[in-house]
Amino acid sequence: MNILIIGSGGREHALAWKLKASPLVDKLYAAPGSAGMAELAEPTGIAQDDFEKLAGFCLEKQIELAVVGPEAPLSKGAADFLSGRGVKVFGPSQKGAMLEASKQFAKEFMHRHYIPTADFQVFYDSGCAREKIKENKKYPLVIKADGLASGKGVRICENEAQALEAVSDFMEKRVFGYSGSKIIIEEFLVGKEVSVMALIDGETFLMLPVSRDHKRLLDNNEGPNTGGMGAFCPVPLDAQILEAIKKEVLERFLAGIKKDRLPYRGVIYAGLMLTEKGPKTLEFNVRFGDPETQCLMPMIKSDLAGLMLACAEGKLAGKTIETEAGACVCVTLAARGYPGNPEKGAWIQGLDKTPSEVLAFHSGTSAEGGRFFVNGGRVLGVMAIGADISSAAKKAYAAIKTINFDGMQYRRDIGA
Ligand code: AMP
Ligand code: GLY
Repeated sequence: MNILIIGSGGREHALAWKLKASPLVDKLYAAPGSAGMAELAEPTGIAQDDFEKLAGFCLEKQIELAVVGPEAPLSKGAADFLSGRGVKVFGPSQKGAMLEASKQFAKEFMHRHYIPTADFQVFYDSGCAREKIKENKKYPLVIKADGLASGKGVRICENEAQALEAVSDFMEKRVFGYSGSKIIIEEFLVGKEVSVMALIDGETFLMLPVSRDHKRLLDNNEGPNTGGMGAFCPVPLDAQILEAIKKEVLERFLAGIKKDRLPYRGVIYAGLMLTEKGPKTLEFNVRFGDPETQCLMPMIKSDLAGLMLACAEGKLAGKTIETEAGACVCVTLAARGYPGNPEKGAWIQGLDKTPSEVLAFHSGTSAEGGRFFVNGGRVLGVMAIGADISSAAKKAYAAIKTINFDGMQYRRDIGA
């Protein structure tokens, strides 16, 4: 079959790498795609939210499955539009995508379906939010903008002044526009974070190996939050915790989308805090994590194209997922100035010298005359497989020594 991957980042590059290995796949295309993944998936140049053109392309090239990578086209209704034109889609409906596009929607969904999460309250008015903050005695306090904010809409406030500033930034200065018209004030949770993803067709789910992202810019989880400086998979977890994640999060999620009649065929990502009182859900994403996908794909032994098609057709029941032994680590190479003001344009050297068991997924590069250049904050994700997390990390860091660009920065402790 022919598959169209919608998106152009490191996550889509990793999906293309895994899908390309499937005996079911004839040809892969990407919209818009990138030069970095062109060997695997032919870039079409079609914008990810140009639904008319995407649908036309699917018909012209006999695309049997469209895989939507990022949240933005999903929350604009990509899946509804394409499936309305007869294309099978891996990715939830616009209604389902509300679980990521609105934190209020997600929190109320969790509350309604008994999915453990932090205690919270929604505010539509900055005056009332300020009153609540003035009464609050316990810090840190977490304040979230309701809508999409490129991963920057969450503030962990250490004191009253920071909390009041968040209210002012989100609701009055509207630094994220309409996304700050409502805010959530919630309890701060303590524990280790994990990223849990599951394939889901609306009736059944299949849990994927658990991974962990490293969101802070600097070693030892210091510095500002980023889109993700690296990840590893699998996270070693007790059987008891895995069972709780399945029962209290994924099974209740499935029951919830059925009760609420949210059409959902794709992947659900639950960002969890493993607290003393069990796993609690911080957020839902309606797509694969980035950079988690870059280290998750190599851990899946089963044929992903077949599983994705089964999701899109509502035929996941009875399917199983086989995983690889060992572990995988992915280290993000970022541009100077990331996450604030990344510098673009530097020539990336040494990509052809990395060992064969290491993969470099392109997140933000451009190509000219056979050379790659920095074209985004997160530039590359260097992924290596090993017998365990520490040997995978060693291989990834050895490969990074062969890659170089002006201003290259990365964390030294991914998977440590
Ligand atoms: P989110 O965009 O919802 O994933 O939040 C970004 C990050 O903020 C999460 O990965 C957590 O590290 C942190 N965070 C969000 N909510 C909470 C919470 N209630 N307690 C502690 N940390 C949180
Ligand atoms: N790695 C976090 C995310 O994809 O949202």
